[in-house]
Amino acid sequence: MDRYAVIGWPLDYTRSPQIHRRFAESCAEALTYEAHPVAPEDLADTLQAFRERPSMHGFNVTVPHKESVMARCDALGDEAAEAGAVNTVIIDRSTTTPRMVGHNTDGAGLVQDLTQRHGVSLNGARLLMVGAGGAARGTCGPLLRAGCASIDVVNRTAARAEALVEHLRARGHSANLAAVTRAALEGQAPYDVVINATSSGMQGAVPDLPPKIIREAFCYDMLYGEDTPFERWARSAGARQVATGLGMLVEQAAEAFHLWRGVRPPTNAVFDLLR
Ligand code: ATR
Repeated sequence: MDRYAVIGWPLDYTRSPQIHRRFAESCAEALTYEAHPVAPEDLADTLQAFRERPSMHGFNVTVPHKESVMARCDALGDEAAEAGAVNTVIIDRSTTTPRMVGHNTDGAGLVQDLTQRHGVSLNGARLLMVGAGGAARGTCGPLLRAGCASIDVVNRTAARAEALVEHLRARGHSANLAAVTRAALEGQAPYDVVINATSSGMQGAVPDLPPKIIREAFCYDMLYGEDTPFERWARSAGARQVATGLGMLVEQAAEAFHLWRGVRPPTNAVFDLLR
């Protein structure tokens, strides 16, 4: 049977096996999907073992391996190159030596969740991206390609927002992408969409934003879970609508499954199950 896996460290809370096994069931695809906790010092050996195992056809990558796996791939999809991180690898066995091809499905998963599940219209939207780490880097490009009129990036450490914008501009995104400071946000008109791509929620914190900029916005927390700090804050600050990242998790997985198997699985049943 074809094998797939997720690697990360630690991996105690991963939902990926549950999600992919349900996808496989609903598409009648014969495969196995296992969680492999891999410590950073064991990464190289694990990737070598995957290459050498003929039944292994791909794997997902999560924290802290997304950048280091990218560096070890033989080829990269455009999204992965732009994101500087890989969350999905195809082990291509159609050639004599297996090739590892790295992809990043986070952006496609976010766009799919926003537009299809939550009915958000990205076309022409003014979007505020809060955060400038890996999560923001992997999703700004796909959001622009999905039709956003502009993206402003704000971050606690302003220099990182500037660096993120520079990185994306060097890849061809230009006029409609800008770094903004917290102070400058005070003078901004309300945004259509505000996305929290910071990890602040994991510390029970929320990014510091002026409430008036989210008054007409669809607010999205990439963190998932019930009642995240950002979700609570956005509701109390009067956001038009608020959602958290469970749908993005399911949709990025569906994109990965599609890359591996050539079929896009239905996602609503898995979304309802996890919620
Ligand atoms: P990831 O890959 O998940 O994006 P990261 O690269 O460590 O992780 O980035 C974390 C992001 O969350 C950064 O934008 C970080 O802001 P700084 O660049 O200023 O560190 C942001 N972040 C983390 N904790 C935060 C907090 N308590 N308030 C606001 N932003 C926070």
